[in-house]
Amino acid sequence: MRKILITGGAGFIGSHFVDALAAAFPDCRIVVFDKMTYAADIRYLAPLIETGQTQLVVGDICDYELCRKLVHGCDLVVHAAAESHVDRSFYSSMLFTQTNALGTHTIMEACRNAKAPRIIHISTDEVYGEVLSGECDESGEMNPTNPYSASKAAAEMIVNGYRHSFKLPVIVVRANNVYGIRQFPEKLIPRCIMSLIDGEKIPLHGDGNNVRHYLAAPDFAAALVLLVNKGVINEIYNIGSKEEHRNRDIAQMICEQFNTTFEDSVKFVKDRPFNDRRYSISWDKIADLGWKPKHNLPKNIPMIVDWYRKNAETIRNRQEIHT
Ligand SMILES: NC(=O)c1ccc[n+]([C@@H]2O[C@H](COP(=O)([O-])OP(=O)(O)OC[C@H]3O[C@@H](n4cnc5c(N)ncnc54)[C@H](O)[C@@H]3O)[C@@H](O)[C@H]2O)c1
Repeated sequence: MRKILITGGAGFIGSHFVDALAAAFPDCRIVVFDKMTYAADIRYLAPLIETGQTQLVVGDICDYELCRKLVHGCDLVVHAAAESHVDRSFYSSMLFTQTNALGTHTIMEACRNAKAPRIIHISTDEVYGEVLSGECDESGEMNPTNPYSASKAAAEMIVNGYRHSFKLPVIVVRANNVYGIRQFPEKLIPRCIMSLIDGEKIPLHGDGNNVRHYLAAPDFAAALVLLVNKGVINEIYNIGSKEEHRNRDIAQMICEQFNTTFEDSVKFVKDRPFNDRRYSISWDKIADLGWKPKHNLPKNIPMIVDWYRKNAETIRNRQEIHT
């Protein structure tokens, strides 16, 4: 492997992917292609930019000419760039369709043109929609319920068209809610942490009983590296964990880190226009390749809180500019 292109590599999950790919393929050049939206931070890539293993190209995945240039000569393209926050998708849904659907189309077309030999498209368990009981395997139907998940499902449909019509060698991954350091504080865990650091109450949607499965970003990145080596082209892989928590349980865990109580530090706020109560996927297929999650959310919370405390000022400045 000589050259990897990773879109969205300066964002939360993308930067964890970059770290894992750089460690797994130390002789490989990693090009990060990122628009540097509010969710991105060049500091996440700084150590690898300094060593020269990683290079950042700032640009938009909807720019076909740039995509074409960057995809050229790549041994692997990991497509992670997206507008990723469900709440934002309710009030700027067309941006989500543009970035997630048209952007994916543009990258796929560039990959077709350049005959990219291996592409990994990052999708989400949210494309299955609400799963109130049991779990969905990769053959489950897509039933997205909000503008974000609809745009991710649309992206997958485009990828599917390219896989069938042009034999584009793509692997699709659908992951659970991912958590870890570097996540912008619009998502639940960093939002709880930053609220308490700033002496504010945690705003919790609805009654806080919605449940999500939580996958650690380094576990997701390890799954990606495994799929680079062992993933079967044209296949879809669910990637998940067994850690299912209600939103209110997450808030409770974080309150404990700040020696405060749920009752004193949480306020309930208006729910989303539609809020899936539960997602659930089975991930036996990737487990059969030899992957399983190593991290545990309750054990990781103190480390994550510590990271946000140390980076609070930077994060707060970014929040002030972008919210
Ligand atoms: N966060 C989760 O829990 C989760 C779960 C499953 C799947 N995913 C998927 O994983 C991927 C990464 O998610 P994340 O949470 O790291 O998101 P993020 O919002 O933290 O990062 C997204 C990155 O994409 C970049 N980007 C946005 N629009 C772009 C454009 N037009 N051109 C180039 N770059 C652009 C941003 O600058 C940012 O660096 C997304 O595809 C998302 O749908 C996320």
